[in-house]
Amino acid sequence: MRKGEGAACARLGLRVFQDDDLDRLKAFFEAHGCYAAWVDVPHQGRTLQATDPAGTPLEFCATMPVLPRMITKFTRHAGGSALRLDHTQVLTPEVRKACEFYTAAGFRLSEYIAPAGTFDLRGVFLQRKGNPHDMVFFNGAGPRLHHFAYLAPEVHHLLNACDIAGELGYGAAVERGPGRHGPGHAMYVYMRDPDGHRVELFNTHYQIMDIENEPIGWDPSDHKISFPWGLPARQAWFEEATPFADVAICEPEVKPKPLTLESYLAK
Ligand SMILES: [Fe+2]
Repeated sequence: MRKGEGAACARLGLRVFQDDDLDRLKAFFEAHGCYAAWVDVPHQGRTLQATDPAGTPLEFCATMPVLPRMITKFTRHAGGSALRLDHTQVLTPEVRKACEFYTAAGFRLSEYIAPAGTFDLRGVFLQRKGNPHDMVFFNGAGPRLHHFAYLAPEVHHLLNACDIAGELGYGAAVERGPGRHGPGHAMYVYMRDPDGHRVELFNTHYQIMDIENEPIGWDPSDHKISFPWGLPARQAWFEEATPFADVAICEPEVKPKPLTLESYLAK
């Protein structure tokens, strides 16, 4: 994290298993006409920076120093007790293109949003580590970072994080939830940090590891996809996102028309 003129995301970081995966990734990006270059980054082994076809800046490494496990150091857990950085969600003008690129790179599609009976993709959930998603792409002006998400050990840690936000004067920054997602099945809460970046704290993802599992489709006209119960998210949740530093933003061909809290209440 560093100071800048405005809030922006430098790049999204991902781990690969082994060092030679980085060589294959570099060749993959270059074969698709995408920027890829080796860089030196403190506290990381060999590091590859690359850009996907939409311009999303990425960074990959295989090794970094291993620190002592904190999972049973309960007196050191604070706030929402975030265990790990789990996934990111990106708005992109061409969801299908993103899906094709990332599945070719080795991601698996766990769930997707498209009108029933079609593959007119509005959102895709892509995974590498056996839970529902590591990278999510939704239709929208982009590329922009919609949110990054931390796993919490228990559902009550989400409520604890909200209570602490309220006590510290950040109650209005609790933007959505706590609630339950349709896709991914997680309990969640979204907050905006003081710079405006959206952070999700979540729990209860399921595992998807068997090769026989077909991707699960959700019809966007079925509003249970975004809120099985409770109220829809406010318009800002759908539209506001963090730009990537020095990356041009393109509008999608089809503008999203989600059911927002504002339109829901106006009915
Ligand atoms: Fe998320």
